[in-house]
Amino acid sequence: MSVYSVAVDGPSGAGKSTLSKAVAQELGIVYVDTGAIYRSIGYYIFKMGIDPKDVGAVVGALPMIRVDMRYSEDGMQHMLLNGEDVTEKIRLPEISMYASAVSAIPAVRDYLLDMQRDMAKRCSVIMDGRDIGTVVLPQAQVKIFLSADVEVRARRRTAELEQRGTPKPYAQVLEEMKERDWADSHRETAPLRPAEDAVVVDTTNMDFQQSKEAILQVIGRQLQL
Ligand code: DC
Repeated sequence: MSVYSVAVDGPSGAGKSTLSKAVAQELGIVYVDTGAIYRSIGYYIFKMGIDPKDVGAVVGALPMIRVDMRYSEDGMQHMLLNGEDVTEKIRLPEISMYASAVSAIPAVRDYLLDMQRDMAKRCSVIMDGRDIGTVVLPQAQVKIFLSADVEVRARRRTAELEQRGTPKPYAQVLEEMKERDWADSHRETAPLRPAEDAVVVDTTNMDFQQSKEAILQVIGRQLQL
């Protein structure tokens, strides 16, 4: 097969990025983290002190924002915001809600659509997000919807934050995750939902290796490798 796309959607904390990264490495394809693009916009809005729910103000700021993606030798995706590398900064916990809020604005989604589609035209990708199988790449050869119970996702995220040196209590992580799940799946534009032809992979009772195998199996089956 020449160029193909794998769309991976699902709620936050389902393991999309870690798993997609590992699968990309195994298959020798490019991993595109679309959440990082929304986070970059969210970071700009945060830095400028703009209310992320103020649609007019966010839309007004868009012409001032240039987001670029670069890949380093090791395949790591770097985000450039008006030329500044913000790869680390966009992971700050307070940016999550900003990203979620700006991602609900249709003009923001339109603004980022071509950038995401262009990536998939150039090479084979595994792209993760919330609307990749439904809106960004409806023609993707493989569509996976990755899910897990919210308690399990919150536990994984709590461990990840602790490892990163920015710990947060489990109860707070759980509350925020529920809030973001609700916002991401109830917004009017491109809400989080499985595409009709997506294969649902529930990782609640799977460890990393099992989840990775499950994804590789779906890809192998769909591409008839
Ligand atoms: O995957 P993430 O947590 O880094 O994403 C941050 C936010 O961006 C998330 O709350 C929803 C939004 N998002 C989106 O709306 N569509 C995407 N394709 C990816 C992310």
